[in-house]
Amino acid sequence: MTIAKKIETMMSRASWIRKMFEDGARLKAEHGADNVFDFSLGNPNLKPPEEFRKALIEAASASGDRNHAYMPNTGYPHVRKSVADYLSAEQQARISENEIIMTCGAAGGLNVILKAILDPGDEVITPAPYFVEYSFYADNHGGVLKTVSTKPDFSLNIDAISSAITEKTKAVLINSPNNPTGQVYSKESLNELGALLKDRSNSSGRTIYMISDEPYRKIVYDGLKVPSIFSCYNESIIATSYSKDISIPGERIGFIAVNPDASFKENLLGGMALANRILGFVNAPALMQRVVASIQGMSVDVSEYARKRDLLCNGLADSGYEFLRPPGAFYLFPRTPIPDDVEFVKTLQEELILVVPGSGFGAPGHFRIAFCVDDETIINSMPGFKKAMDKYRG
Ligand SMILES: Cc1ncc(COP(=O)(O)O)c(C=O)c1O
Repeated sequence: MTIAKKIETMMSRASWIRKMFEDGARLKAEHGADNVFDFSLGNPNLKPPEEFRKALIEAASASGDRNHAYMPNTGYPHVRKSVADYLSAEQQARISENEIIMTCGAAGGLNVILKAILDPGDEVITPAPYFVEYSFYADNHGGVLKTVSTKPDFSLNIDAISSAITEKTKAVLINSPNNPTGQVYSKESLNELGALLKDRSNSSGRTIYMISDEPYRKIVYDGLKVPSIFSCYNESIIATSYSKDISIPGERIGFIAVNPDASFKENLLGGMALANRILGFVNAPALMQRVVASIQGMSVDVSEYARKRDLLCNGLADSGYEFLRPPGAFYLFPRTPIPDDVEFVKTLQEELILVVPGSGFGAPGHFRIAFCVDDETIINSMPGFKKAMDKYRG
């Protein structure tokens, strides 16, 4: 055996994902990529805004001897200042550059946070359905991911979280707007969660952090605003990125923001700066830091995703699918007409439709459709979705 047993086990646990991609690649080779309806990846299809391209050209052409040098592990001070200024307005809080750490995307940020707070065996609670990588991230740093149920509409189930808290709980990790459900957690539920964590931290004498993974914050519909977690709980940390809102996931740029009122802020920030370094990120990409500094608040035209959502929801509802109409993100998470979601995903593959089984997100009996695709893909896939549903509806 040439690799670690642990990673081999993880590879086999994740093998259904590999199989799905292999099946997808095979179908594309057989039928031509244009004839396969690929809804399997959350890879944004909209072009980055024009402002991004201009900022990139400007940042790339700027002269400066040290433009590509190492920097503080937390990122350029002027970039963190620009992020903090924007975030202060967005979150209605006084956030300074000292509370910001630039990261390699939200994924990098989550790993930095977990590295800094977890001791071996510590538990991280997350509501299911959840982003499949969380269990790997917790495990990377000696932690254990514990999933709890959500309500039928995928909103937070505070009682379930309360029952799951033990003396080992170090954090509750939430993701809103959510991948894979598109649900956005209400201010009331976040306040309730904050009150619960405050109470349980006080009674155990051990801080339980609220970590909010927010890469879809700007992708919301119908005038909705995503509430700030900072006003709900002091011991809170945001991990986010520019991957989805300006369509640049390959550039690996994001940031962590620590609540200015967090009790052990200096320790936390110092620990995370070190974690960023020793995880091998060292610092977030220099060029991208300079680019995003000048386009704070920018996003793709979200009305394009809203149109895709409506196209998909209307078409699938007509065929008898049941789902929550997602208030945010670019995912739809319908129920499967049979309990075996993997089997139903195979049925969709027969119609050349690629989606992901809900089991992969801790929610069997569902499947995920990523609608960050061309309108034609949605429109032309509708007969296939109908045929798959009809097979089981009789
Ligand atoms: C919920 C969630 N968190 C984190 C990430 C990782 O984002 P990034 O590309 O910014 O690392 C993703 C990517 O799909 C995601 O869906």
